Amino acid sequence: MSKITAAITAVNGYVPDYVLTNHELETMVDTNDEWITTRTGIKERRILKGEGLATSDMAVPAVEGLLKKRGITAEEIDLIIFCTTTPDMPFPATANVLAHKIGAKNAWGYDLQAACSGFIFGLTTGAQFIETGKHKKVLVVGGDKMSSIINYEDRATCIIFGDGCGCALLEPNTEGYGILDTVMKSDGAGAQLLFQKAGGSMHPASHATVDAKEHFAYQEGQAVFKFAVTNMADVAAEVLERNNLVGDDIAWLVPHQANKRIIDATANRIGLTPEKVIVNIERYGNTTNGTIPLCLWEWESKFKKGDNLILAAFGGGFTWGSIYLKWAY
Ligand code: UT7
Repeated sequence: MSKITAAITAVNGYVPDYVLTNHELETMVDTNDEWITTRTGIKERRILKGEGLATSDMAVPAVEGLLKKRGITAEEIDLIIFCTTTPDMPFPATANVLAHKIGAKNAWGYDLQAACSGFIFGLTTGAQFIETGKHKKVLVVGGDKMSSIINYEDRATCIIFGDGCGCALLEPNTEGYGILDTVMKSDGAGAQLLFQKAGGSMHPASHATVDAKEHFAYQEGQAVFKFAVTNMADVAAEVLERNNLVGDDIAWLVPHQANKRIIDATANRIGLTPEKVIVNIERYGNTTNGTIPLCLWEWESKFKKGDNLILAAFGGGFTWGSIYLKWAY
């Protein structure tokens, strides 16, 4: 019997309508469009507005669109892995909330927390259930309502993040397409350089934690930048090397959209020309778990069957990793 690989067979995405531009941010904090554009590459980001709307509310249209594209029903999904740093609630898992909303009655599911690397950790995890033959349809969702944990008085973070959600369906393939190699890494030494201090068991919510603004994302930008720029490039290079690939063999780099300078450094390191590098950071900013699936969704029509894709991400934790996959359709 030929080896089973996990192939992406459909992708989709959703971004909220509200556009928060650099110019609007100029009216909120001491910043300017020129600084944001040159330091990050971001021009605007989307914000989910509306009382009570949560991450799962972006996932529903994304997943329903995916099911329609693939021509399957929600009941056919075996497993939902919901990669998010901004779950609807601390518990139950947003995967469960989503399953209920879309009618995925036969699926089990769980949330995966790996900050900005969540979606590639989720693909890697989901692929195992396909490769073993345990499941036939695994839905990996990556999405965040970052605006729910951003302090719009902190110019170091509020200019970077946005809201959005994407998803991919994994199915078995026996012709050599799909996820062919993954390298995933974690290092808790970086935990306090990019984190949300309160709201967990160490610092449960209290008047004091709210007053100290500890429920917002905090980032030591420069320190994170140094780790990100080296590690994301290193891990992408490692995946190429161990598969005897060079830049010319790669059709597309699908990088996490944290900072255009980090994306450029990764592309340079693995010898890719700019037209092979997927970038939408200027329109969406950093949607954390949403960046990579939103890129796949927006570039889907350009991919050809057999294209070699390299996915790479770096995020809080620290977490980072890279995936080599052969596009299946
Ligand atoms: O996605 C998960 C992983 N996260 C990342 O990969 C993000 C990594 N970090 C970054 O992308 C960058 O560090 C930032 C975009 C966050 C910041 O860019 P930077 O080039 O590292 O700027 P910096 O923090 O070194 O700040 C440079 C200057 C400072 O002023 P002084 O001290 O030189 O006078 C800041 O106070 O820019 C100032 N500054 C700003 N100015 C205008 C910081 N934020 C802003 C701002 N607008 N929004």
